[in-house]
Amino acid sequence: MKILAIETSCDDTSCAIVNEKMQILANSIHSQVKVHKKFYGIVPEIASRHHLENINFIIDSALEEASVNLSDIDVFAFTIGPGLAGSLLVGSMTAKTFAHFYNKPLVPVNHLKAHIWANFLEYDGEKFEPEFPLIALLVSGGHTELCLMNSYDDIKILGRTRDDACGEAFDKVAKLLDIGYPGGPIIDKVSYEVEERVAFPRAHLPNTFDFSFSGLKTAALYAYKKNPNMTIKDKHILAASFQDAVLYTLVKKSINAAKEYNAKSIILSGGVAANSRLRDLIAEKSHALNIQSHFPPKALCTDNAAMVAGCALTELENKGTDFFVKKLTDDNMFYKINSNLKLN
Ligand code: KG4
Ligand code: ZN
Repeated sequence: MKILAIETSCDDTSCAIVNEKMQILANSIHSQVKVHKKFYGIVPEIASRHHLENINFIIDSALEEASVNLSDIDVFAFTIGPGLAGSLLVGSMTAKTFAHFYNKPLVPVNHLKAHIWANFLEYDGEKFEPEFPLIALLVSGGHTELCLMNSYDDIKILGRTRDDACGEAFDKVAKLLDIGYPGGPIIDKVSYEVEERVAFPRAHLPNTFDFSFSGLKTAALYAYKKNPNMTIKDKHILAASFQDAVLYTLVKKSINAAKEYNAKSIILSGGVAANSRLRDLIAEKSHALNIQSHFPPKALCTDNAAMVAGCALTELENKGTDFFVKKLTDDNMFYKINSNLKLN
């Protein structure tokens, strides 16, 4: 069985083909980073236009890589939300058209769930078999959620950000310091190039699994305003100190949640899950507690369609193929894209 999935929720245009064993046969991605770099953030109107320009060649390249034709595909899947409305429309209309034309099931996938599913795909011949309950920390450019998974179809959000998303805070601090875009990977890298740190507050928010990042962003702003002629090295020290503060709460809350819910595993997902220090810290702390930890390969942390296909496969197993054929013909509302779709 082969699923073709399309992901266009933000600025990456991606098409993947995954089989019933969660093996990735193709995962083509076109990044718009260069286009949005000069704005230090995603411009929604520009993002949707670029999806439209790139979607065809990305689908062709996935089909070619997997050596299949569209007529060989058994199921189509797409990201239904959350995301940018204009961007989501491109992927949803494409997948819907294919499903109608080839008379195949169409599976809408929640983007946040898809990020978590990046952990469950086979990669380099290895497949992670999670033990439940598990704690899933989802940290991306648009989202920050701490989830409790009792099984594949029982996911509860324990906490989320009260202001900026985690990746957004990385990007904004990098913009403030003028050290590049997207900020996350740059701050990750420069944090290894400097050893010094400056005093930086911690956003504790006691008695909750919620997060807050805007105070840390403001702390970076004040530190920068005090010394606007900072050297590049000082900027790197400030960025690394900001990163330490962000990681401190991400790790502390994930570990506390794991203890409270007797979790057997902790998994990371979303673009910020590519952060090397975050991965090291979670691995170290969970190992000390005898808890298993798992992170997707870095290439699957940021937006990609393979994770969407993986999540669609589980939806199919849970609900059955007929459910998605029937919904496509009977209930079009089910496929209405939704920019604010929540996990629960
Ligand atoms: O998951 P993603 O590709 O898009 C959304 O769904 O939002 O995440 C993009 C975010 C950006 O904010 C980027 O700065 C951040 O992930 N990011 C990182 C790293 N790589 C990407 N943040 C910290 N460390 C990294 N290595
Ligand atoms: Zn994402």
